[in-house]
Amino acid sequence: MIKNQDILNIEIGVVGLGLMGSSIVVALLISGHPVKGIAPKKNDMKDALPRIIDQLKHAEACGLLERPIEAYLERLTLSEDYHHLKDCQLVQECVTEVEEIKGEVYQKIVAATGMNTIISSNTSAIPISILQKLVPNPSRFMGVHWAEPAYMTRFLEITKGEQTAEDGARWVLELAHFWDKEPTFLRKDIRGFVTNRLMYAVYREIFHLIENGETTVEDADKSFRYDAGSWMTFMGVFQRMDQLGLEDFAEAFGRIFPTLCNSDKVPLLMQRMVEAKARGIQNQRGLYSYTAGEAQEWERSFAAFNEDIYHLASAYSPTRKKKQFHE
Ligand SMILES: NC(=O)c1ccc[n+]([C@@H]2O[C@H](COP(=O)([O-])OP(=O)(O)OC[C@H]3O[C@@H](n4cnc5c(N)ncnc54)[C@H](O)[C@@H]3O)[C@@H](O)[C@H]2O)c1
Repeated sequence: MIKNQDILNIEIGVVGLGLMGSSIVVALLISGHPVKGIAPKKNDMKDALPRIIDQLKHAEACGLLERPIEAYLERLTLSEDYHHLKDCQLVQECVTEVEEIKGEVYQKIVAATGMNTIISSNTSAIPISILQKLVPNPSRFMGVHWAEPAYMTRFLEITKGEQTAEDGARWVLELAHFWDKEPTFLRKDIRGFVTNRLMYAVYREIFHLIENGETTVEDADKSFRYDAGSWMTFMGVFQRMDQLGLEDFAEAFGRIFPTLCNSDKVPLLMQRMVEAKARGIQNQRGLYSYTAGEAQEWERSFAAFNEDIYHLASAYSPTRKKKQFHE
C-alpha cells in the first residue's frame, strides 16, 4: 500500500513538455513527487519552464499549493538528456499523437531506464495494445490519459493493453489517488477508451438532428449545457437513472433507441467545415463565428470556469483523499 510519505521518493518522468506535458509535470509536483521533465525537442526547453511557473502560480492562486512555488521547483529537473530518467518508477510519455514519433521516444526511454520502469502514454486515440508492441517489456506499458489542465481536472483514465500486467496498472491506479484524481480503470483496450466513446455517441446524434433540420447548433448546445450540464458534475449517468426511476428509462429506451442515428459516416456538416479549413476558435471560423477578441475572452472565461468546476467536483466527491505534502 502506498503511503503519503512514499510519494516524496517516487520519481516520475514526463517526456514531452508541450501543452499537456507541462501541466502533468505541475500536477505531479503538486502531489509531492520528484519530477524529471524531458524535452524531446529544443523548443520545449525554452518554453517549458516559464509555462510550468505560470501554471504553478495559477495553482497557487486557486489554493492548490501547500508550499511556496520554489519548494516545488526544487523537486523538478528539466533536461534534454533522457539519462535523468534512470531512477524513475514511472515515465509518462506525452508527445505528439503520431505512432512513429511515440515509438522513437520509447526507444530512448527504454535505453535510459530499467525493465521494471512503467511507461505510460497520454495518447487520446492510439490503442495501447499497438503502442506496447514498441517496447521490450510490454507488461509494464499502459495508457494513463490525463485531461487538460492536468493539475485542475479530476479525470484520469488508466488503460491496460492486451499485454499489460495487472499489478503495475493497479499500482498506478493507487498512485492516482494521491494526484487528487477520480481515476477510472479500463481493463480492456478499446478504441477511444470510455470517455471519448461516450462523447462520440453524443456527437453523432447531435449532427444527425442538425442535418435533418430538427434543431440548430445553438439549440442543441443549449439542451446539452442546461440539461446534462446541470447534473453531470454531481452524478454519473447510472446514478442519474437510479435517481429518476429505472422503469421510465426502460420504457423510453424501447421507444427511442430505434430512432437514434447509427451512421458510420463522418457527418456532412463536419466534412464541409474541414474542406473550408474552418478550425474553430483557432482561426475564428467554425460551427459558430467569432471575432478574435471573443475567442480570447472565451478561453479566459473557460480557465476561470475550470477553476470553479474543479472545486465544485471536489466538494461533492465521495472518495476524495486529502493529499499532504510533507518535508
Ligand atoms: N491537448 C489535450 O487536451 C490532450 C488531452 C488528452 C491527451 N492528449 C495527448 O497528449 C499528447 C501530447 O499532446 P499535447 O496537446 O501536449 O501536444 P503539444 O503539441 O502541446 O506537445 C507535443 C510534444 O511532442 C513533442 N514532439 C513533437 N514532435 C516530436 C518529434 N518528432 N519527436 C519527439 N517529440 C516530438 C513536442 O516537443 C512536445 O513536447 C498527445 O498524445 C495527445 O493526444 C492531449
